[in-house]
Amino acid sequence: MAMGSNLSFLGFFLLVVMGFGPITARSQLSSDFYAQSCPNAFSIVRCHVLSAIKNETRMAASLLRLHFHDCFVNGCDGSILLDGSDGEKFAFPNVNSVRGFDVVDSIKTALENECKGTVSCADILTIAAKYAVLFSGGPSWRVLLGRRDGLVANQSGANSGLPSPFDPIDTIISKFNAVGLNTTDVVALSGAHTIGLARCALFSNRLSNFSPTSSVDPTLDSNLAAELQSLCSSGDGNTTTALDRNSTDVFDNHYFQNLLNQKGLLSSDQGLFSSDEGIASTKSIVETYSNSTEKFFCDFANSMLRMGNISPLTGSQGQVRQNCRVVN
Ligand code: HEM
Ligand SMILES: *[C@@H]1O[C@H](CO)[C@@H](O)[C@H](O)[C@H]1NC(C)=O
Ligand SMILES: *[C@@H]1O[C@H](CO)[C@@H](O)[C@H](O)[C@H]1NC(C)=O
Ligand SMILES: *[C@@H]1O[C@H](CO)[C@@H](O)[C@H](O)[C@H]1NC(C)=O
Ligand SMILES: *[C@@H]1O[C@H](CO)[C@@H](O)[C@H](O)[C@H]1NC(C)=O
Ligand SMILES: *[C@@H]1O[C@H](CO)[C@@H](O)[C@H](O)[C@H]1NC(C)=O
Ligand SMILES: *[C@@H]1O[C@H](CO)[C@@H](O)[C@H](O)[C@H]1NC(C)=O
Repeated sequence: MAMGSNLSFLGFFLLVVMGFGPITARSQLSSDFYAQSCPNAFSIVRCHVLSAIKNETRMAASLLRLHFHDCFVNGCDGSILLDGSDGEKFAFPNVNSVRGFDVVDSIKTALENECKGTVSCADILTIAAKYAVLFSGGPSWRVLLGRRDGLVANQSGANSGLPSPFDPIDTIISKFNAVGLNTTDVVALSGAHTIGLARCALFSNRLSNFSPTSSVDPTLDSNLAAELQSLCSSGDGNTTTALDRNSTDVFDNHYFQNLLNQKGLLSSDQGLFSSDEGIASTKSIVETYSNSTEKFFCDFANSMLRMGNISPLTGSQGQVRQNCRVVN
């Protein structure tokens, strides 16, 4: 009898889950997902992120970017963390570029010691990104949790799905649309470039042989252009400089003020304000954020939640990895 009613309960449950799968997949993430199973999850991640940033300020930027590059490829499923030469780490937008994997490992080790097999690597990236922004002086928001880890990395998906700094703004918008994000998300999330560094290889296209009519990108401030030419003159494409040279380590709205002054570093930054496609779609949002830290912070937090909701694995999909670098 008891078994029969359990089975019919299970049948009902499956009907509900399968019938409304696409809807429940979103709503299954919750802010208190680990409240019982790992109540110290937040404080453990917070402590590790804080000490990593105290050791190296840039780590805040690197951790924030990891969450973005995870979510845009097969959803937020920790796939970027998987090792292997055919993994996402070796995709063009990531190789010699994304960093922070050791910090994620140390967080994972601490969480496994505290509550084994409970907190997914995908959720670690979500929580780490939140504290990275907070400790850099940015907004705070309540993250949604309960993602599970994917079983595969997708290198070709990373190559095709992640935006490139050489993409026209319309292409960048299309890549965001492809994962359910809109033009407001493009501009708000690009504000992440208020912290962190970029390498000469990603912006030196603007510094010489730019076009048949102009050696230097005409939408780049000429003093900044000269500084960057000097910085990159050694020819080492790995030389880095700040994405927001005004307040490199502080999460503020200066990134947008820079764009008004033609001081965006990447072509994809300045294009939000200066390109023809940008003038049609993104420029007015840049102006709004340049004038209002409050509006930028509010929209950024909302867009981070929307990005964190990209195709999560939930329920019994995927797994909770024991080591973020390999599937169990
Ligand atoms: C809109 C399209 C975007 C493009 C084309 C783009 C491109 C880039 C590039 C080329 C770099 C420098 C990489 C290097 O030098 O190796 C970079 C760095 C960075 N990006 Fe983006 N990005 C975009 C959006 C985002 C978003 C949505 C976020 C996060 C919400 C983000 C966060 C960062 C951060 C924090 C860094 C600095 C990382 C560090 O210093 O380690 N980016 N991005
Ligand atoms: C501290 O940061 C440096 C880079 O600045 C890095 O080489 C080192 O591994 C970091 N140490 C810890 C304990 O994270
Ligand atoms: C990789 O990503 C592409 C583009 O999103 C997708 O079409 C493909 O199904 C993915 N492959 C795997 C193995 O997940
Ligand atoms: C993007 O989506 C958000 C949330 O639904 C909405 O508030 C915003 O107006 C949208 N932006 C555009 C440009 O459609
Ligand atoms: C950057 O350094 C890596 C090795 O550290 C090297 O393989 C790569 O070619 C360099 N990239 C550029 C653009 O110079
Ligand atoms: C950037 O720095 C300069 C000089 O310190 C200052 O005058 C300017 O207002 C700053 N701009 C922004 C956008 O913070
Ligand atoms: C910023 O706000 C001020 C006052 O509301 C306004 O006069 C100015 O045009 C705005 N600037 C931009 C770039 O939107």
